[in-house]
Amino acid sequence: MATIIEPFKIKMVEPIRFTTREERQKILQQAHFNPFLIHAEDILIDLLTDSGTSAMSSAQWGAMMVADESYAGSRSFYKFESVVRELTGFKHIIPTHQGRAAERILFQIVGGAGKTIPSNNHFDTTRANIEFTGAEALDLVIDEARVPSLQLPFKGNLDVKKLEALLSRQTGMSAPQIPLGMLTVTNNTSGGQPVSMENIRAVSAVLKKHKIPFFLDACRFAENAWFIKTREPGYASKSPHDIAQEMFSYCDGATFSGKKDGLSNIGGFLACNDDKLAEQARNLLILTEGFPTYGGLAARDLEALAVGMREVLDERYLEYRHACIEYFAAKVRTGGVKIVEPPGGHAVYLDARAFLPHIPSEQYPGQALVCALYEFGGLRGVEIGSAMFGKFDPATGKETLASMDLVRLAIPRRVYTQSHVDYIGEIVLETFGRRESIRGMKLTWQAPMLRHFTAQFQPL
Ligand code: F0G
Repeated sequence: MATIIEPFKIKMVEPIRFTTREERQKILQQAHFNPFLIHAEDILIDLLTDSGTSAMSSAQWGAMMVADESYAGSRSFYKFESVVRELTGFKHIIPTHQGRAAERILFQIVGGAGKTIPSNNHFDTTRANIEFTGAEALDLVIDEARVPSLQLPFKGNLDVKKLEALLSRQTGMSAPQIPLGMLTVTNNTSGGQPVSMENIRAVSAVLKKHKIPFFLDACRFAENAWFIKTREPGYASKSPHDIAQEMFSYCDGATFSGKKDGLSNIGGFLACNDDKLAEQARNLLILTEGFPTYGGLAARDLEALAVGMREVLDERYLEYRHACIEYFAAKVRTGGVKIVEPPGGHAVYLDARAFLPHIPSEQYPGQALVCALYEFGGLRGVEIGSAMFGKFDPATGKETLASMDLVRLAIPRRVYTQSHVDYIGEIVLETFGRRESIRGMKLTWQAPMLRHFTAQFQPL
């Protein structure tokens, strides 16, 4: 059969609100040209993120109804713990309210001035939590990842030579202290690109040689497992579950946001094998998140996660998920729009510099493009470029720009149908047709950290 269908039927629907272009122009102005500041009701199709936006299954909702909301020792926690332990093999499973809470706890313990934490690419919250402790968040992704048009099966890989070079400087006074190494799967910052099993194994071996613990940022572990199954020699006949298990087997711990491949609206965990680290983490958890058997979540959220983490590894689901992204990518590509190739696991990333060559990077072409997509079609995407990763130095008044200006159109899991994706493709192509009328942006206000969430802009 050539057509891959949605492997579910729809039991409950939520209406979406249509607006006119004139209304959207006003809304954009009120939101200071930052789509994060638009009310969700004013969005027709929301591609801001795949995080926390999944449609849950009837099995997840059903499990939530039988949750045990006991403060300590809840049955729901033990169910969650057994699912995560079976999959990851980690000794300590510490629930948190979302991924960044796990990151905050981990880096509060291992971070600090003079430390360096390498990864392929750190996501923005991971980077911010590392830098907040005074440590350095170092990106060692392969150079090819910086070329959007380049077709490579595992463009999320870490450059092992760069890691070896970093570690070989580990002796002497000026040497970096490396409390742990990481890999983000899939690599969100560089386009939702997968990391190969070969790369996971190689990074693990190099870190082990230097006695440095290895952690996965495992938010999209199932999508990464699907890419390994379909692209890496030797894995075609293995199940996504077994591939995911193997991925975790090379690591000493993981941070996880259940809002992605947990198919849940909230939740996450920090997991590790080290008893001392786990004890410190649980103490910090109690301080701000909650008792170790609920970690800032309601027990019903733990139930939803326990079911979601199994559902996400279903082969039919992963096949449909991947087909959805490929279908969207093919649609815009045929109209001449340049995207990050090959498309990643959870989103299509438009290359804003290629889309709007008349807008220099200092004028945030990605921000201009997200605003245009909203104005022309009510779509909400997110800029992943100089608005997000650029850094303003108040001392010099100068701005360091990001290496790419991308617009991410993330596809929430199990939420939109094929005709929604057709519409999204049409709006991208219509916007491309009108690209010459789109103007650059000026940044008029910014917060000192994670500025893109609240920044304000004005069209030039
Ligand atoms: N790591 C990665 C790779 C992520 O993509 C995210 C979140 C986090 C960690 C933090 O998890 O949101 O549960 O605290 N990414 C979302 C996104 C926000 O839109 O890509 P969180």
